Amino acid sequence: MDTVKLNNGVEMPQMGYGVYQVSPAECERCVSDALKVGYRMIDTAQAYHNEEGVGNAVGKSGIDRKEIFLVSKVWISNYGYEKAKASIDESLRKLQTDYIDLMLLHQPFCDRYGAYRALEEAYKDGKLRAIGVSNFYPDHFIDLASNVEIVPAVNQVETHVFDQQTEPQKIMEEFGTRIMSWGPFAEGRNGFFTNPLLAGIGGKYGKSVAQVALRWLIQRGVIIIPKSTHIERMRQNIDIFDFSLADEDMAAIATLDTGRSLFFDHHDAETTRMFMGWK
Ligand SMILES: NC(=O)c1ccc[n+]([C@@H]2O[C@H](COP(=O)([O-])OP(=O)(O)OC[C@H]3O[C@@H](n4cnc5c(N)ncnc54)[C@H](OP(=O)(O)O)[C@@H]3O)[C@@H](O)[C@H]2O)c1
Repeated sequence: MDTVKLNNGVEMPQMGYGVYQVSPAECERCVSDALKVGYRMIDTAQAYHNEEGVGNAVGKSGIDRKEIFLVSKVWISNYGYEKAKASIDESLRKLQTDYIDLMLLHQPFCDRYGAYRALEEAYKDGKLRAIGVSNFYPDHFIDLASNVEIVPAVNQVETHVFDQQTEPQKIMEEFGTRIMSWGPFAEGRNGFFTNPLLAGIGGKYGKSVAQVALRWLIQRGVIIIPKSTHIERMRQNIDIFDFSLADEDMAAIATLDTGRSLFFDHHDAETTRMFMGWK
């Protein structure tokens, strides 16, 4: 598995397995399958309500904890210094571990500075090996990264062939922050899995649309966490390290960018109102 070095020297697998929309009941089985087929990084969040399932699967796997890279996220209802601090301890308890490899602030709303201070403190206490943010687009990202003591190691944002984040990635890199993709298949939206350009490129390499889309992100230096509840797809998605896309194919895929989210715009008033409803 390829790894990337974060801005504090910590090595992180470039590919992992995400468990958004995996029910608490199914999560343990899914993470066990993912570990079985070779994934060593798991991305969960307080808001997914399945950290316990991740912890159970890791505990029962027989794999050394040090071989597994755990990522979680603090939800906005736990923002502010005191609540975020308590919620980190709660995540540690649910994940059944005494450290989390990477902890992110999930959204750029509410008291994010207070919450980030709790991340910094837990990092210094050895409870978190690296800290970062998610869904922080250039305005919020530059603001936070310029005003905190510990610059985020990672920023996890929607990134896929239809919303490529090329400029935001450059800005993150100016700060030494790694881009991590959520929704690498755009959850199948916009005819993702039957896209003719991706299918045509896949045909040249004997690879599926999903594999081409993931390989393209890997070659851009993006950290990826595709989700599937099916073990065959988990296996297919991780089988992307035995080929390389040629420059011409990378360039062709770049033309699919619309520069727009397929989900929600974090700068839109309605989106902000929606998140305030989830506090
Ligand atoms: N930070 C954030 O705000 C945020 C937001 C969203 C997601 N995330 C993270 O990013 C991870 C990935 O994003 P996502 O789960 O939203 O969506 P995604 O990975 O883009 O897409 C998942 C969808 O693709 C299907 N799929 C997976 N592999 C496939 C394949 N090889 N062929 C055909 N279909 C396939 C899955 O179906 P099946 O499961 O039925 O196989 C599922 O419907 C999440 O699990 C989560 O960890 C973070």
